[in-house]
Amino acid sequence: MKKPARTHRLWLAYMLHRLSGIGLVLFLPIHFWLLSLALTDRAAMADALQFTAHPLVKIAEYGLVFLLAVHLFGGVRLLVLEWARPVSNRWTDVHKTLAAFAVALAFAVSTLFFLRAL
Ligand code: HEM
Repeated sequence: MKKPARTHRLWLAYMLHRLSGIGLVLFLPIHFWLLSLALTDRAAMADALQFTAHPLVKIAEYGLVFLLAVHLFGGVRLLVLEWARPVSNRWTDVHKTLAAFAVALAFAVSTLFFLRAL
């Protein structure tokens, strides 16, 4: 009997890509709204900018950069797989290595960003 797709380790890569995409979609309208305050309410903008110095915001930024980086590298991984489609559709260890590499790169980029923001 065929195993359900969710038991495959690369299902995690798919879920991470979907959740990071949704996270970015939710973040962007808030980000644009905050930027719009520069035109509509400068005092509120100044308050918001002051709030960004809070340590919790720094941690949230770390998470956000991770989401963007993991979505970017995971997306490039998917595009490379689509362009260089293997003869067989079987998932191999190379695919798992690529997914792990995308997550590792995303951790490296977001952690560097976080360390510089401290
Ligand atoms: C940074 C460069 C980006 C790359 C290289 C990229 C790449 C991709 C790729 C290849 C897919 C298709 C995944 C699939 O076939 O299953 C995808 C899906 C998606 N992307 Fe991006 N993306 C990027 C940026 C963004 C941004 C900025 C957002 C949000 C504002 C976003 C939101 C999404 C969403 C919601 C999906 C659908 C996920 C799903 O259905 O599972 N992406 N992305």
